[in-house]
Amino acid sequence: MTIVYEPYLGEVLIDGETIQRRVVALAQQISEDYHDKTPLLVCILKGGIVFLVDLIKQLQIPHSIDFMAVSSYGAGARQSTGAVRIIMDLEQNIDGRHVLIVEDIVDSGRTLHYIYSLLKPRNPASLRICTLLNKYERREVDVALDYVGFDIPNKFVFGYGLDLDEVFRNLPFVGVLKDELLPQ
Ligand code: PRP
Repeated sequence: MTIVYEPYLGEVLIDGETIQRRVVALAQQISEDYHDKTPLLVCILKGGIVFLVDLIKQLQIPHSIDFMAVSSYGAGARQSTGAVRIIMDLEQNIDGRHVLIVEDIVDSGRTLHYIYSLLKPRNPASLRICTLLNKYERREVDVALDYVGFDIPNKFVFGYGLDLDEVFRNLPFVGVLKDELLPQ
């Protein structure tokens, strides 16, 4: 049987085991940095969900979670349009909380810049960012990243939370789309 993602996969960029090892290391670092605190981890939907779930399973400190949804990519689009909009806001009040934003990928930086500027005026005790992937070559807006899983090249990636036309978020690895399938 052909594996469903095979027609789309150019190469595996980061395999599942490597991701899991890095997630454990990040969780350990976060647990040390917040050892006397109860942080609120804010997952940016939808891409951040797989990373968040694996990350919190490895945390050794009390913490809570909340969710925000924003979108800068139209359905089916493979390039950021640059326009960020909020789809779903947090449930919890973050006044006085130690907030850690959890993202799957930082590309242009526009999404995180927008989220940061939205949350900062709500007076969190601290506001930090954790991203699994950092596509640093594409940065258009500066964002200070406190925890980074992997710096990656400017390639179209999917899997481990990142979608390809809304599917394949469940893949345990990060793969690169075949060159011939890239938009012209
Ligand atoms: C992706 C990703 C980040 C954002 C990064 O989200 O999850 O939130 O793009 O791009 P940027 O740095 O250029 O702003 P997307 O809008 O594709 O939504 P999704 O997570 O629901 O797939």
